[in-house]
Order: sequence, then structure tokens, then C-alpha cells
Amino acid sequence: MKTTYARLRRTLGQLAYEKRYGVRTAELIELDQLGIAGEQRGYYVAASWRTLRRTLSRKEVTARDVFIDFGSGMGRMVLEAARFPFGKVIGVELSDELHEIAKDNVQRTRQRLHCRDIELVQTDVLEYEIPDDVSVVFFNNPFQGPVFTTVIERLVATLDRNPRELKIIYYNPVEEQTIMATGRATIARRLVHARRRTAGSPFGVTKVFVLR
Ligand SMILES: C[S@@+](CC[C@H](N)C(=O)[O-])C[C@H]1O[C@@H](n2cnc3c(N)ncnc32)[C@H](O)[C@@H]1O
Repeated sequence: MKTTYARLRRTLGQLAYEKRYGVRTAELIELDQLGIAGEQRGYYVAASWRTLRRTLSRKEVTARDVFIDFGSGMGRMVLEAARFPFGKVIGVELSDELHEIAKDNVQRTRQRLHCRDIELVQTDVLEYEIPDDVSVVFFNNPFQGPVFTTVIERLVATLDRNPRELKIIYYNPVEEQTIMATGRATIARRLVHARRRTAGSPFGVTKVFVLR
């Protein structure tokens, strides 16, 4: 009873956000419905609104910071990030359909957003050239296995070319070990975002890693 009530409250809260911002991001879509299913790819479901506000302080972000959501879907985290004073916010998404919805969502909310430089890129993440100045990365468990490993290796390569601190905010961190195996990461924060979760499971947790 308590759980049903909590779930209902959460759903109503999320819908209130959608209504307030006039956007559409709250759906669960299997990738075969979008024609892009693939072995190490997940599904589309947005992270909770407020995830960034709960893991990142405004004071940590300046106009020199660049944010990327890898697997940005309908753009919910791009919208959230653009409320921070980032110099640039980027969303990289494989699905053309989700990319178009994200573009529409950004268009509808642009006036309310702090960051003016928002770039939505429709491509497979493996085709995307990661900029050397990215400083905050978001993953909502978008892909696993070799695809995730390649993206982490490419992020580490950006650190070698341009030494700096890189934050990775990882919602449902299924591939945490891949990040730790770089030998460059420490865990800065751990946040439980699901009320009911199986102990030890990566689902229901967000972790913030700092790589140098
Ligand atoms: C769980 S959803 C997360 C959406 C968004 N980050 C959010 O939290 O609102 C994962 C997204 O990753 C995308 N994705 C999966 N494989 C991808 C790839 N190889 N390149 C780019 N995007 C990919 C999916 O299409 C899906 O939209």
C-alpha cells in the first residue's frame, strides 16, 4: 500500500514536471519499437527529474564546463543540464525519433534555460567524436559491454590530451567496474534514487565518479 502510494506520488510528480515545462519525456520504449535494438543497447526510459540537481551543485558549474548526455533520448537530462550555467550542453542519441522529440522539447523550453549553447546530435555514440573539453558526462545505463568500454577509453584519451577533472554521473551504474578499471577514477558520491531496490544491485542508485 505504502509502495503503491509512493509510486503514484512519484508518477504524479513527474507528470507535473512535464506539464510545467510543456515537454514530453516520460515514457518507456523498447528499442525494437524504434528499430534500433542491438545487443548491448538498453531501452528508452528517462532518469528522474532532479537527478542532476541532487548530484551536482550549481557552484561546481561554470561557463567553461561542457556537459554531455550519452544516449540522451527525449532530452530530459539535456533540459536539466541546461538549467545549470554550463557553457555548452550536448545530447548524443542513436534514435532519430527520440532525437526529433528532444529537439522539440528544447525548442519549447529554450526561453527558460540558462545555457544558450545546446547541441543535439543524432548518431551512434561510436561515430561521435568526443570534445576534449567535456567536463561532466551523464549515462543512464544507455549501453553496455564493448560500446561502454570504448566510450570510457575515449573519455580517458581526452584527459590525456587535455588534463583536467572529469565528472561522470552514472544512473543505474551497471558498468561501474569498467570505470574503476581505468585506475583513474574515484567515487565522489552515491545517491539512492529508488525507494525499493535489491541490495547490491546497480539499479536504483546514481554514482558520481571523478576521473583525472
Ligand atoms: C535509458 S535511455 C536514457 C535517456 C536519457 N539519458 C535520460 O535519462 O532521460 C538510453 C538511451 O540511450 C540510447 N542509446 C542506446 N545505444 C546508443 C548508442 N550506441 N548511441 C547513442 N545512443 C544510444 C537509446 O536510444 C536510449 O534513448
